[in-house]
Parts: sequence; C-alpha cells; structure tokens
Amino acid sequence: MAISIKSADDIAQMRVACRLAGEVLDYIAPFVKPGVTTGELDRLCHNLMVDVQGCIPAPLNYAPPGYTPYPKSICASVNHQVCHGIPNDRPLKKGDIVNLDITTIKDGWHGDTSRTFVVGDASILAKRLVNLTHECLWIGIAQVKPGVHLGAIGAAIQKHAEGAGFSVVREFCGHGIGLNFHEEPQVLHYGKASDGPILEPGMIFTIEPMINAGKAAISELPDGWTIITKDRSLSAQFEHTVVVTPTGVEVLTLSAGAPPCPPGIQIHP
Ligand code: MF3
Ligand code: CO
Ligand code: CO
Repeated sequence: MAISIKSADDIAQMRVACRLAGEVLDYIAPFVKPGVTTGELDRLCHNLMVDVQGCIPAPLNYAPPGYTPYPKSICASVNHQVCHGIPNDRPLKKGDIVNLDITTIKDGWHGDTSRTFVVGDASILAKRLVNLTHECLWIGIAQVKPGVHLGAIGAAIQKHAEGAGFSVVREFCGHGIGLNFHEEPQVLHYGKASDGPILEPGMIFTIEPMINAGKAAISELPDGWTIITKDRSLSAQFEHTVVVTPTGVEVLTLSAGAPPCPPGIQIHP
C-alpha cells in the first residue's frame, strides 16, 4: 500500500478531529496534579470525548494483530514507561512525569497527539528530558516540506537527542493517519536524512519521538501493552499530527493550549 494523499476535503475533516484531540489535552492539563490517578484522567478524557465532543476514543478496544484489545480510552505513561501505559488507580506524585496520548475519531477521521506533563515540580534531569523531547518534536516538524525525504525528520531528531546525551527509542515510530489509526508511512525518529519516500502535499502523518534519559532499549510489561525502558531510565514523548502543504507544513493538532514551537526553530509555513 502506498502513502495516501488526502484531498482538500479530507484535510478539512482531519483538521476537526485533530483540533479536538488537542483540546482534550488542553482540558486535562489542569487536572494533572499530585494525587490524581491516571484512571481518573482517563475517565475525564473519555467523558469529554464521548459526551461533549461527539468523538470515539480510538484506543478503547483497539486491537492490532497480536495484541489484546486496549482496555482504556487514553494512554498514560509514567516516568520509565515509554508509551502505551494503561491508566490505573495509582495516584501521581510530585516529581513524576506523565505522557498523556489522545486519539480521537470524528466522523471516521483520526487525530493523534500527546504531551508529557511534569507533576508538581520535578528533577532537573526530568525537566531537561521533557523540554528536549518537545524540541525534538518541533525540530522534526521543521524538516517537513514537499520534496524532502521523510528520513530528514528522524535524522534531525536523532542528532538533537543524542547531542544532549539522550537516546531515541527505535521500536515505535510516527505513522500515517486518516481514516485509519495507523497507516503508511512509518515515521522513524532516527536514521539518515536521505532515506525514505519524498514528501508530497496532502500526506498526513504523526511525529512522536520517544526519548530516554538512559539507553534506548525497551521491554514490554506482562499486560501486553505497557512499554518501559529496559534500564528503568526516564522516558518522555510529544506527538503532533501534521499535513504536508504545498509550501511546508501545517500542525493539525496545535490547539490553543499546546506548548508553542520553541524559539529558534523555523517552521516552513
Ligand atoms: N496513540 C498511540 C500512537 O501515537 C497509539 C496508542 S495504541 C493504544 O500511535 F491502543 F495503546 F492506544
Ligand atoms: Co501516533
Ligand atoms: Co498517539
């Protein structure tokens, strides 16, 4: 299967689904405080998506080949959890970092975005990792314009992460998205700038670097979903869904409350 090119009409529908996903993160941000459980955050997000936004939470019962159905409506990955953490009844504590990953389905179209939140205050290392990972996302976005190889995104992210002494998770990547949650292409967060297909207007995909404070290796918990760092080092992630425009890139999940593009990073408008 080739990479699908979305029409102007498709892109308009994706804009809606993606904005709603971003607005779920805007809504939940003030609730991410010491003492709240990730299960409560899941319930709040679920109710907003279903009762207010008229969306379907894409993770709920999502079951790719070889996986048991995902049991919750969002992913909540704490500290050394890399991704796909399952919300539970343990309260967050001051100093934790937690990634909340939201995927909405609106009229069949998927919007996918995540942020890592610092709970209360955190260590210098945790804050440095979170900020660096956010920069990695935007440095990836800054590569996007027609005519560039997809590999430019991963190459730029890898250079920034490893230059800071951190490592890039290899086993999970960004992905094409639209009427399907995960479609072609795979968007690696490492590799060579000259690798991969050439970007064309109308391609829609996510960029979602997972960056570890320690080594890149991961393992999976017996729940069949949660991914952790093998060395139990901290891991952070940020994700946006983007569309390649005739001149550059549009960030579809950039809602009002999203942390802005860091200073000094130039996006192709
Ligand atoms: N939202 C994740 C991504 O960015 C995928 C989560 S799959 C789930 O691709 F089933 F764990 F929700
Ligand atoms: Co994604
Ligand atoms: Co996601």
